[in-house]
Amino acid sequence: MPLGKLDKVLKIAVEELITKGTAKGKEMVITGIKPAEGKKGPRYYIEGEGDKEFLKMNSNAYLGMPLRKEVIEAEEKASKEYGAGPGAVRFISGTYKPHIELEKKLAKFHNREAAMIFSSAYSTVMGILSPLITKETIVISDALNHNCIINAIRLSRPKVKEIYKHLDMADLEAKVKSNIGAGKRVIIVTDGIFSMRGDNAPLDKISNIAQKYDFEFEEGIITIVDDSHGIGAFGKTGRGTEEYTNAKGIDIIVATLGKALGINGGYVTTSSTIINYLRETAPFYIYSNPITPSEANAAMKSLEILNSERGLELLEYLRKLTKHFEKGLVDLGYEIIESDHPIVPLMVRDTQKTSDLVKYLTENGILATGLNYPVVPKGDEEIRFQISADHTEYDIDYVIGVLKEHKETH
Ligand SMILES: Cc1ncc(COP(=O)(O)O)c(C=O)c1O
Repeated sequence: MPLGKLDKVLKIAVEELITKGTAKGKEMVITGIKPAEGKKGPRYYIEGEGDKEFLKMNSNAYLGMPLRKEVIEAEEKASKEYGAGPGAVRFISGTYKPHIELEKKLAKFHNREAAMIFSSAYSTVMGILSPLITKETIVISDALNHNCIINAIRLSRPKVKEIYKHLDMADLEAKVKSNIGAGKRVIIVTDGIFSMRGDNAPLDKISNIAQKYDFEFEEGIITIVDDSHGIGAFGKTGRGTEEYTNAKGIDIIVATLGKALGINGGYVTTSSTIINYLRETAPFYIYSNPITPSEANAAMKSLEILNSERGLELLEYLRKLTKHFEKGLVDLGYEIIESDHPIVPLMVRDTQKTSDLVKYLTENGILATGLNYPVVPKGDEEIRFQISADHTEYDIDYVIGVLKEHKETH
């Protein structure tokens, strides 16, 4: 069938995104990595930029796991032992020893009964929300939740969908109260760390609200947290927002293996009953291949490092670098959103100025992410920096120096 007519419509759709300024555009291609050397952390080579070196200030790999020797070795060892891919979905013949071991270790790390892994955190959220949301379920979601939560709720079609104002506990409580009698089950769902701002959900308070009104609903109030940016980067031992807020009673935790743990994939951890139910009902799990056995083995190594003395040292170092960077920006007179998370948003509050500053940083070999409307609300345009444990103090000072230079010359 000739695609001419469809092509025309799709080209217009993409052009509209470009005109609106919301197109993602051409992807930058990393062609090589220069390992850390002396006082410098790793540098990246980019297609079309020759031998110019770039410092990545926009990686989610907060603990520098992707380049750690032990992690790479764990991946290599398992691919030699089990092959390069699973060759089937889990219930056919795609379940390998590293998958099972990783699930057990993730559950133990979070002090939960069981865990199950998916091919990404996105598919975890998509996969678990629809089996947990019935026609008698009320879903209450933070206004700034990640795209995967928004789409998972759309897919699930709950009886009632409520959006509470970002982090506004009075609004959340009001929405719980106003739905008493409207359905059997309530699901409160939130990001742990909100990736655009580095701020965190008050999980202690959310959990208290859930417990306070649980008796009002026949099947109770269930709390679900997607802490993809929090696990391995936040909380004293890297157990994320639950640990940081000292929350008791969060029912279900979702996270990624692809950010602080540095590999790829996602997981959910909770009670054995819920996991058994999800293994039977979550389509993104049942009908889609798992991560490779070698990815599972590498993630296990990352988790082992995180869960050791070395992990505590890395987290401490990450916090130290983050505070050093934040202070540098504040001293220069920049507005930031301060937090204990390695996401550092520099609030520019202007679209053109954001793009100009990102360009200036790139020219100076620094990769950082400019976030404009509609990714962030109008007026909240920002540059998002992400600190990683493979940065050095020299690297951070270099970025501060470039920003200083920009201030002085623009
Ligand atoms: C809250 C949240 N959930 C899910 C994801 C997606 O993670 P993954 O790449 O594992 O699908 C992200 C990453 O941007 C995220 O911030």
